[in-house]
Amino acid sequence: MASTTSFDVPSSVLIVGSGAFGLSTAWALCRNPQYRNTSITVVDRNSFPSTDGSSVDSSRIIRPDYAAAPYARLATIAQNRWRTDFAPEHYHETGLCLTASGPEQRYVGDSLANVQNIGLDKIEVLDSAQDIGRVCGLGRSEDDACGSTGYVNRSSGWADAEGAMVWLRNEVDKFNRVDFVVAPVKKLLFDFEKNTVSGATLSDGSELRADLTILAAGAWSASLIDLRGICKSTGQVVCYKPISAEEEAAIASRPVILNLSNALFMIPPSRGKLKIARHGHGYLNPTTIPHPESQDPKETITVSLPYTHVTDPNLIIPAEGRRACNAFLHSIHPSLAVPSRPFTTTRICWYTDTRDGDFLITYHPKYKGLFVATGGSGHGFKFLPVIGDSILECVEGRTPEEFKERWRWPEERVPEELWAGDGSRGGPVGMILEEEFRKSESKL
Ligand SMILES: Cc1cc2nc3c(=O)[nH]c(=O)nc-3n(C[C@H](O)[C@H](O)[C@H](O)COP(=O)(O)OP(=O)(O)OC[C@H]3O[C@@H](n4cnc5c(N)ncnc54)[C@H](O)[C@@H]3O)c2cc1C
Ligand SMILES: *[C@@H]1O[C@H](CO)[C@@H](O)[C@H](O)[C@H]1NC(C)=O
Ligand SMILES: *[C@@H]1O[C@H](CO)[C@@H](O)[C@H](O)[C@H]1NC(C)=O
Ligand SMILES: *[C@@H]1O[C@H](CO)[C@@H](O)[C@H](O)[C@H]1NC(C)=O
Repeated sequence: MASTTSFDVPSSVLIVGSGAFGLSTAWALCRNPQYRNTSITVVDRNSFPSTDGSSVDSSRIIRPDYAAAPYARLATIAQNRWRTDFAPEHYHETGLCLTASGPEQRYVGDSLANVQNIGLDKIEVLDSAQDIGRVCGLGRSEDDACGSTGYVNRSSGWADAEGAMVWLRNEVDKFNRVDFVVAPVKKLLFDFEKNTVSGATLSDGSELRADLTILAAGAWSASLIDLRGICKSTGQVVCYKPISAEEEAAIASRPVILNLSNALFMIPPSRGKLKIARHGHGYLNPTTIPHPESQDPKETITVSLPYTHVTDPNLIIPAEGRRACNAFLHSIHPSLAVPSRPFTTTRICWYTDTRDGDFLITYHPKYKGLFVATGGSGHGFKFLPVIGDSILECVEGRTPEEFKERWRWPEERVPEELWAGDGSRGGPVGMILEEEFRKSESKL
């Protein structure tokens, strides 16, 4: 077995968070003989599957066409697993149609230039609203509501995210190795004298101790360590409504449609449910909490943290988000967007954004025994089949060369206003959740 120079196999590992990053890591630990004697515990605040976690939803897009070659390569490996032996029954290769109008047309043009280089095999260029309407089975195509430029990549697809997570949990359970604990972690077990972390304290005061703690709490990670200037949680709107079997049959095998100009997208409906969402800049939810790394309970920090249907069962997304989703649906399938058929469920799903969209998969620079695996930045799910193996490589000090710069702990904290972002977002910028809620009330 390839062993590394200075890596001591931990006798116990605690993973905080049972989402894509945490569960995939638990699976990798189970499969790797080096950890045969390691006890593995996964703790999540929700019972599985965690319905407000970002990894649990009706669908996630699976596309490997990243501008950055390392992600493109890793995503291609992941996609091949989706196609073959990783929850293949939950993967649907219906294609992805990117459209744009206005300035974003340039992006489509640039991507298309790449396409010319790769060869046009599974790509179809769409240069009129009619073309887009035909390929996507849209309800109307006479105007340019869905943009006038685009292309469809037949090699992309989508996965039933919840189905795939349940599939993976079942695979992990087969090893009978992982102790799954359902309880909120209140604080990591810091030793501020020695600068170590040796597990976590739960909200009932009990402790889970481990040689190695892997923090994979997604958008909640910022409540357990200080991630200011490194990660920020942004809320994205998702809307659902029921559709009939005939309506579903007509579009279920059509491509995912993503409008780059406003970042709204529709994944083909399944099981009677239609979903519209926005890959946007998102809402911030500034929250003042006790400083997670301080001994002084009076010391606080303010960070954006998730606000979800679990914390507020009556949560309805801001009117602005609902309107945007409805307008998008109206522009592609007007008959499904009539006032008599409102969205019946809405949700805010939280991204863990980093300044440039790179993941954060690294040891904490200060605390021995603490490893961080988060920063999904709205594109982590597709890697579910492989991300755990990558995380273990990093744990073992074998971070792939091409990700060393990208996944490391940043040298400095950069104010969020100065972040470049990953360049893929659209829609309104700088929205604060509470303000949007207030505006929504005044409109009722
Ligand atoms: C609306 C939306 C659309 C997306 N679309 C795509 C897409 O099309 N393609 C794609 O590849 N990716 C997509 N993503 C991104 C992808 O879903 C995420 O990158 C990925 O799921 C992140 O996984 P995670 O394990 O980091 O976080 P999560 O899945 O959120 O897992 C974190 C877990 O930690 C638990 N937790 C938090 N705090 C505590 C605590 N104190 N104690 C115990 N447990 C705790 C939570 O309950 C949760 O289960 C999308 C995300 C969203 C929100
Ligand atoms: C696990 O423990 C057994 C019994 O102590 C030992 O023989 C074996 O070498 C250990 N395996 C690993 C991978 O450390
Ligand atoms: C189309 O998809 C294939 C495979 O999923 C990918 O390798 C390729 O880069 C994509 N091309 C474009 C231009 O989207
Ligand atoms: C795509 O976004 C642009 C810009 O907001 C808009 O003009 C166009 O109508 C949108 N198309 C769809 C289908 O929503």
